[in-house]
Amino acid sequence: MHNLLAVIMAAGKGTRMKSKLPKVMHLLAGKTLIEHVLDSVTQVGIERPLVIVGHGREEIETRISECAELVVQTEQLGTGHAVMQALPYLDGAKTILILSGDQPLLKAETLKKLIELHEVQGVSATVLTAYMEQPFGYGRVIKNGEFVTKIAEEKDASVDQRQIKEVNTGTYCFKGSALKEALAKITTQNAQGEYYLTEVFDVLIRNGEKVLAYCTPDSNEALGINSRAQLAQAEGILRERILDHWMSEGVTLVDPASTFIEAEVKLSRDVTILPFTRLMGKTLIEEDAVIGPQTSLENCTVGCGSEVTYTVARDTVIGERCHIGPFAYLRPGTRLEAEVKVGDFVEIKNSYVEMGAKIPHLSYIGDTHVGKSVNIGAGTITCNYDGVNKHPTKIGDYAFIGSNTNLVAPVEVGEHAVTGAGSTITKNVPARALAVERSPQVTKEHWHKQKDEIGG
Ligand code: UD1
Ligand code: CA
Repeated sequence: MHNLLAVIMAAGKGTRMKSKLPKVMHLLAGKTLIEHVLDSVTQVGIERPLVIVGHGREEIETRISECAELVVQTEQLGTGHAVMQALPYLDGAKTILILSGDQPLLKAETLKKLIELHEVQGVSATVLTAYMEQPFGYGRVIKNGEFVTKIAEEKDASVDQRQIKEVNTGTYCFKGSALKEALAKITTQNAQGEYYLTEVFDVLIRNGEKVLAYCTPDSNEALGINSRAQLAQAEGILRERILDHWMSEGVTLVDPASTFIEAEVKLSRDVTILPFTRLMGKTLIEEDAVIGPQTSLENCTVGCGSEVTYTVARDTVIGERCHIGPFAYLRPGTRLEAEVKVGDFVEIKNSYVEMGAKIPHLSYIGDTHVGKSVNIGAGTITCNYDGVNKHPTKIGDYAFIGSNTNLVAPVEVGEHAVTGAGSTITKNVPARALAVERSPQVTKEHWHKQKDEIGG
């Protein structure tokens, strides 16, 4: 028997989104709407909440089945009907928290206050409400003193009721037994012919039960995502929250207006983010690193004191005190140790670069192990693809790769070896050897004069 259980309603199609994705799978700051709600619920200490799914349930399942219990609502007959599907799993729960999967800005601290008020007051239900200057579309909360007497949906509300600015956020606490009894009595007699969860309050109040409201001071939390415009509005609000948070943690954002940081990114103190920079996914930036301007990092780690400028990188680990860019492109599987330099117009894919190596200009390095302090000359290309398979290249510590070398993989260049500029290396080069592969230079003296004589 559990004392506090949660149900998240997420079976609706989200018709107004006009999307092939189920509504709660749309992304906000890099995380799906439903994951934002799940995070807040988990933060109040509720494990494995029940999620009511219907439309697009396979997609939702693959994303969240590790942290939630899914309950299928085959036909979407309304929010009341959604919660009915969960009843068999709620037996014995003292308090039931109900949330909507499309309300991603709700904070865990607000949920804690809602639950606390509900339990301390010992009422049958408590509704999380907010004041909205433009309450259109939301259920209006009608009260008598501090007690809620009714929630009127937009489509069912009278002209007077529509003037009310205190709205139902779609988040509630119920006494388990009261919810179960009241749900059995709701009908579909309303403007939309649905089982409204909000009709439960009519039933409770008829039975003389008490319903309270907890009004959150941050009305943004009430924002329900029903359209793309609301999705963009939520993105803007969340973005500002994230930026404020990192500034309060000691990060310098030179221009917040052109800085985009997703929800799961982690930054350390004294990191500086320069304008027009976007940090995505599970990116982690360590102390004193300087990122930007014009840099986009997704699922990357950047070590202490590194500089990454005008760069695009994905699934890459950058060590300490590295210098990356301008105009570097680091692709998945790239791992750079400390003090590596990657300069302009360099692309690196699935490669391991050891400490102090330099790849300063105009190179493509793929499926390669670059040893310590290796210097790679401008224009060097690893020819890793033969049209069918990808092959590895290994460059030993302290090797010197001359400018414009083609390394035709699979191939190895030994420690301290040197390749001559312009060489196409197809055979392994032993340690400390020099490999030059190019035609001897032909120089014809007085060539220009000869051309003059034949009238050139
Ligand atoms: C609901 C509330 C309204 C409140 C608003 C806050 C009702 C009747 N109204 O309206 O008072 O102001 O939320 O955002 O509850 N869902 C299901 N199964 C269904 C129907 C809906 O799981 O059969 C899910 C949806 O996927 C969604 C949530 O319930 O995540 C809310 O449904 P939605 O249709 O968006 O309700 P609103 O009209 O916004
Ligand atoms: Ca909604």
